[in-house]
Amino acid sequence: MNRKTYNAAKKTLENNCYAINLHNQLLRRTLPSREFYVHQWNWDSATHAMALIHIDEMRAYEEIYSLLSGQWVNGLIPHIIFNPSETRYFPGPDIWDTEKTSGTTIATSGITQPPLITISAFYMYKTAKDRNQARIFQKNVIPKLVAYHEHLKKYRDPENSGLLTIIHPWESGTDNSPRWDNVLQQIDIGSIPDRIKETVNEGRTDNKLGELDDRPKVYDYYRYLYLTDLYKNWQWDFVKIVRESPFAVKDILFNAIWCYANDSLAQFLEETGKGKDAKKFRVWEQQTRDAIQSLWNSHSQIFKLINVTQGKKISIYEDTIANFLPLLAKAVTKTQLTQLINQLLDPKKYWSPVPLPSIALDNPKFELTRYWRGPSWPITNLLIIEGLRNYEMSNPCKKLQLKIIKKTMSMIEKYGFSEYYNPYGENTYTKRKTLGFGSFSWSAAIYIYLAHEYKLITF
Ligand code: GLC
Repeated sequence: MNRKTYNAAKKTLENNCYAINLHNQLLRRTLPSREFYVHQWNWDSATHAMALIHIDEMRAYEEIYSLLSGQWVNGLIPHIIFNPSETRYFPGPDIWDTEKTSGTTIATSGITQPPLITISAFYMYKTAKDRNQARIFQKNVIPKLVAYHEHLKKYRDPENSGLLTIIHPWESGTDNSPRWDNVLQQIDIGSIPDRIKETVNEGRTDNKLGELDDRPKVYDYYRYLYLTDLYKNWQWDFVKIVRESPFAVKDILFNAIWCYANDSLAQFLEETGKGKDAKKFRVWEQQTRDAIQSLWNSHSQIFKLINVTQGKKISIYEDTIANFLPLLAKAVTKTQLTQLINQLLDPKKYWSPVPLPSIALDNPKFELTRYWRGPSWPITNLLIIEGLRNYEMSNPCKKLQLKIIKKTMSMIEKYGFSEYYNPYGENTYTKRKTLGFGSFSWSAAIYIYLAHEYKLITF
């Protein structure tokens, strides 16, 4: 660990801090990046809080309280909580138009993100030094997390399969991954109303503020906005959305985090002597683990996704970083573990000079700079590091985990706090080493978290 980078990481989190008056309380929240992402994002904040708990416990709690302030009466924790007066980001609150259905006066999006918040909240509770404050936090957040899990189970797994359905690529957190290509391509561009295309052409800012080649292509954006427009017209009726949307997928990354989140929630409840209430979440945890296990294809060595759009059941095989997330859900057998480790360490697949690329280097869809279609992201590295921890009794896992920690930290030390990174580092035909937007809170938070959690602080 490098002291200079550690201090710079703290500074980045300070610079991206935004205090907001919510229900007569001043709460500090962290924006992902002032260059573009000027609101609060769900799983980013969950990650920020895991770092903040090591440096400023109250601010860590505020990060989560602020996120929960946007929770809907039906339990949904949205993927964006908007900051009033910020206009740089598109699509803004008017595109979502959730206030009539959310039951909250706080402007939010209408979809969610991987439920990392539960994992983060339990981690914060365990880690905090001030036990009184930790117990207050526990008391405040548990009912909200329970409501969120019940919401997800009820609306996203109506058939009780153990696997939740996502209704938008953005819910996966890996927005532009090739995992969505086949499903999205079924939405005929010609059938998308011109007014939506015009809104995208006029409103989109990511491709103007950032590099065009780093961002999703225009047809993807038309489809993203077509989906949000549909859901807005259906007044965020999730029963209808899950049944009738042209995009409904059982995703491996989302479900692996869901499995782990149920384990965290169960432990959180058990800690408060509510072992009886915890049982339901233990059942959901195991049900999801078994369901994930059934998605493995031993020939391709890939955990498949299922396209469940409008009653379909079509397997999706795509070699991306999501394939390693079952490690986090403890859903991997011994043989699978060896095969996954071999893939991670294969220089032709995932062990690039700056690992881990978001899709396999030999996947024909690999693109060096376009987000989620090649570049390396600290967040997925972190989830794999934590996943390998479940298997750390095995020597190769421990070794690999340490290697990924080292590589992730040196990537950040060398190239700064970027949104994502060139997986080839400097040995490449493009000179660009950092990609996406800069001064990024996630990358700073992950550096701080790794330094503390893996005891790499040397000062
Ligand atoms: C991008 C990422 C998403 C993240 C958001 C804010 O949309 O795909 O995972 O939450 O940026 O950082």
